Amino acid sequence: MTILVTGGAGFIGSNFVLDWLAQSDEPVINLDALTYAGNLENLATLEGNKNHLFVKGGIGDFDLIAKLLAEHQPRAVVNFAAESHVDRSIHGPEDFIQTNIVGTFRLLEAVRAYWGGLPDEAKAAFRFLHVSTDEVYGSLGKDDPAFTETHRYEPNSPYSASKAASDHLVRAYHHTYGLPVLTTNCSNNYGPYHFPEKLIPLVIHNALAGKPLPIYGDGQQIRDWLYVKDHCSAIRRVLEAGRLGETYNIGGWNEKPNLDVVHTLCAILDHLSPRADGQPYKAQITYVKDRPGHDRRYAIDASKIERELGWKPAETFESGIKKTVQWYLDNQAWVANVTSGAYREWLGKQYGA
Ligand code: NAD
Ligand code: DAU
Repeated sequence: MTILVTGGAGFIGSNFVLDWLAQSDEPVINLDALTYAGNLENLATLEGNKNHLFVKGGIGDFDLIAKLLAEHQPRAVVNFAAESHVDRSIHGPEDFIQTNIVGTFRLLEAVRAYWGGLPDEAKAAFRFLHVSTDEVYGSLGKDDPAFTETHRYEPNSPYSASKAASDHLVRAYHHTYGLPVLTTNCSNNYGPYHFPEKLIPLVIHNALAGKPLPIYGDGQQIRDWLYVKDHCSAIRRVLEAGRLGETYNIGGWNEKPNLDVVHTLCAILDHLSPRADGQPYKAQITYVKDRPGHDRRYAIDASKIERELGWKPAETFESGIKKTVQWYLDNQAWVANVTSGAYREWLGKQYGA
């Protein structure tokens, strides 16, 4: 038995592959295009592990995927590969359309052809798990109930619109062709190997570098935070026992305004790595121009996955965020390697000088 993971050199995908191989002898074929967000260093501890085969390539490459499927005969595909950063989708949506929509389509086509040719037993056991986001549901008002799986799709950014389109394709392949699919819609993740263009790792990185901590708008936008390893355990559980064609919301019941998250990070850093001048890190907080079309609030109702599959997060925000800050302090070499030339160009484009 083998699984094929796409996007397994990115933030969540690499955590998933590392956790999978720590808990199972089942091999992983890891297909990743190694965009700016993909980093083989995340997988360095797997060097020499015969159960991990890394293949550089895109989910839009039908022939490559067809070849990998025929050669390795996986029992499941878990699709993490995507362009994932909302701000980048605002600056340049093209890559989001190509990877998240066209790429998912080509991947589905290759999987459909492979699955259609499997013997009955393997065909019945096969799974295609599509990893998606809560952003497809749009933005909530402050007193609205959290997103359930039946909330209508109202994506507001090019990123979330492209993920919504990919979810619809996955759904259609189940209804039209009977492909055995599962979709997960998760809230904001944080944890090790998070690329420092996203709020939490960016703030840790900038704080330690003595740079401004940029807060978009009034900082009162709410996100629902989940420790990445809890997301990975939820995906494993859905793969194992999820009902075919169903979607499962995954979240940590941890709604926080952005400003509170940044204050928490500053307080942990004040304790673990105080500034040389004795000043608190919160002195570096700087209000900057808001994100265009910025969604005000996300909140996930994760009761379906708990009720049907018995999954619950293991970490609270308080325990997960301390581990995360400690991980960044312990892995400054990783941060230094990813914050290279291309990264600095992005900061210039997004935040100006
Ligand atoms: P990421 O940007 O860190 O990683 C994406 C990975 O996909 C990278 O390794 C990149 O090289 C690879 N990739 C990009 N285009 C590719 C292509 N055409 N073919 C193959 N590989 C390609 O993203 P992430 O934060 O790890 O997110 C992974 C998935 O989870 C995405 O589908 C995202 O929409 C979803 N998601 C993310 C979050 C979050 O908070 N980060 C929350 C919910 C859902
Ligand atoms: O909700 C799930 C989504 O979470 C995933 O689908 C996306 O792939 C992932 O990137 C994340 O999207 P967000 O836009 O919520 O994450 P980001 O870390 O970019 O921003 C979190 C919040 O912080 C958001 O309200 C914008 C704000 N922010 C972000 C940055 C980078 C700032 O105030 N300042 C910043 O510099």
